[in-house]
Amino acid sequence: MLVSLGMHGQTLKSPNGNFVLEFSINEKGSPLYALSYKGKPVIQPSRLGLELAGGSKTEFNAEIRKQADPKTSLYDGFSLASVKHSAFDETWEPVWGETKTIRNHYNEMEVSLRQNSTERSLTLRFRLFDDGLGFRYEFPAQKNLSYFVLREELTEFALTGDHTAYWIPGDYDTQEYDYTISRLSEIRKLTEAAKTDNLSQTSFSPTGVQTALQLKTQDGLYINIHEAALLNYGCMHLELDDKNFVFRSWITPDANGTRGHLQAPSATPWRTVIVSDDARDIPASHITLNLNEPSKIKDPSWIKPMKYVGVWWEMITGKSEWSYTYDLPAVQIGKTDYTRVKPHGRHGATTENVKRYIDFAARHGFDGVLVEGWNIGWEDWFGNSKDFVFDFVTPYPDFDLEGIYRYAKSKGVKMIMHHETSSSIRNYERHLDKAYQLMNKYEYPAVKSGYVGDIIPRGENHYSQWINNHYQYALEKAAEYKIMVNAHEAVRPTGLSRTYPNLIGNESARGTEYQAFGGSKPNHVSVLPFTRLIGGPMDYTPGIFEMDISKMNPNNKSHVNATLANQLALYVTLSSPLQMAADLIENYGRFPDAFQFIKDVALDWEKSIYLEAEPGEYITVARKAKNSDQWFVGNTGGNTPFTSDISFDFLDAGKRYEAIIYSDAKDAHYKDNPQAYEIRKEIVTSGSRLKQVSVPGGGYAISLKPVK
Ligand code: NOJ
Ligand code: CA
Repeated sequence: MLVSLGMHGQTLKSPNGNFVLEFSINEKGSPLYALSYKGKPVIQPSRLGLELAGGSKTEFNAEIRKQADPKTSLYDGFSLASVKHSAFDETWEPVWGETKTIRNHYNEMEVSLRQNSTERSLTLRFRLFDDGLGFRYEFPAQKNLSYFVLREELTEFALTGDHTAYWIPGDYDTQEYDYTISRLSEIRKLTEAAKTDNLSQTSFSPTGVQTALQLKTQDGLYINIHEAALLNYGCMHLELDDKNFVFRSWITPDANGTRGHLQAPSATPWRTVIVSDDARDIPASHITLNLNEPSKIKDPSWIKPMKYVGVWWEMITGKSEWSYTYDLPAVQIGKTDYTRVKPHGRHGATTENVKRYIDFAARHGFDGVLVEGWNIGWEDWFGNSKDFVFDFVTPYPDFDLEGIYRYAKSKGVKMIMHHETSSSIRNYERHLDKAYQLMNKYEYPAVKSGYVGDIIPRGENHYSQWINNHYQYALEKAAEYKIMVNAHEAVRPTGLSRTYPNLIGNESARGTEYQAFGGSKPNHVSVLPFTRLIGGPMDYTPGIFEMDISKMNPNNKSHVNATLANQLALYVTLSSPLQMAADLIENYGRFPDAFQFIKDVALDWEKSIYLEAEPGEYITVARKAKNSDQWFVGNTGGNTPFTSDISFDFLDAGKRYEAIIYSDAKDAHYKDNPQAYEIRKEIVTSGSRLKQVSVPGGGYAISLKPVK
């Protein structure tokens, strides 16, 4: 079924026929594409192409303007050289994830273009899956295009109207915003209103948004725009022409203002458009993973999902400190003698406190313990643009690295390393081998890295080609040392965990920490599965049971905008092979019956079935644990009450299951009654149904086990 998009060119259909992609070249020789779904236009004819930086090699800076130089155009003057169609269908097994197997099934069209005036070639590769589109630019090896610099990528996504968007502002420095839900036409005014708050001025655009961007049309189509396999390239934001509702790619520049230094043969990341008339298909899509290369880690047996606790929330809430002293160690790292300074007595990472966490982990079956603030340098790490900041190997005097290693080992618990880089990249790279070697020596299987603050080298952005190459370098080097990585503040994921499954986590969005920094919107967690999670799992760090932060730190009046049952549900709705029980361990002791769910819940899945979904309002998912007959169900709601109505028809027919249902009590509310929950047991079968109310900021969690 071909809708007329006014294009008379090449077409490609998805395997199920729901999608039609059209490609053509206009009178100026510019490539165009359009996409329809079930006969409805999704992307109207949209330009494709790239603009190169002209001038001499030394002139590439933000000021450089387009010369009348045909060589800067990779967007017009093209004619069609050849078109090749092919089909692909394989099923592969991820090392960990939401499903045990993933089908990668698409029809492909490879369009080769020739720019006669410059004798250059450009290839466009389109892959049409049953749930959407991926396409990228490829630069074949050729005489007239070998080393080149991008001024901008000119990919357009011309939408059909003033859709609802679930967005965070475009920014080169942070991704940790609450989402705004608005019409596209409202983005400009809402961004300008927020500008004074926290938007970084250097990267400000009043109509810029980050991906993964979720959209909903007025007639109920869900459209998601993101990217896959972001390698050796700047991260793609989108900038809106809000008169015509056309988004254009807006690549994060390097410090010199260019968007990437490339060499042929090479390719850009994939641009993805996932589409459905059923919201449940968006989080269930595997397009992002499928567009990445198969695993490069031949023996992944050392990559194992982990559930962990940590010396962390106490510093985030301000109950204790990362630093050891208030005295300023005046000299550079490695030369400060911490035995001579006066400790302030509020240090979190003390041997004694860490042992308490190890004992707790061992007692309750957790795999690991994360400790932050264990290494010297926390006194002046932030805001001082220190090049030589941390060394990642020297512990504070009250953290007995060796003793803790032996203690944890004796209890069967693994330690999780923490490397806050302070965004001093050269410093991290100069210490990286030694830091990873120390981890190997003390058998730390995983590192949480962090990139808080402005990047050094100064002037670099958080998501440019240059720094994306650093994140990738740290990940690949970690793989050499058999280390798993959970990178905070690094560029949001784009499915690279298929290729490097040691990337077991990223933060790269607003995580639980903001609940102690003033609070997040109660519906935030029901937006994330449609946005941030499209690229990969998030180290969201759920499991907060004490919502009144002033109980931990009288000076912190922040409130966790979630119910306790909602916090349990997150282990299922925000699937991740790395899950923290983030609260202080003493708070779990107060609610042992609810804590049981966190102990029981699985981390790795055979199947995932999205039962109910509407971005920002509710999401309900059932997941079957890998190599087990146990199921877990999670629901989170939004800002208003939600009645979930689900069938258990996913269960094995003929079997009886004990369901333990952890739900909001009737009078629960995220604001004034968050700890009101109920736990009940029921026997259910594949014929059972459940109606369950989740209060504002609420949710429910269920564990299901077959019984005789
Ligand atoms: C920000 C991270 O998101 C948080 O988890 C960490 O504790 C701090 N940086 C300090 O590294
Ligand atoms: Ca963070």
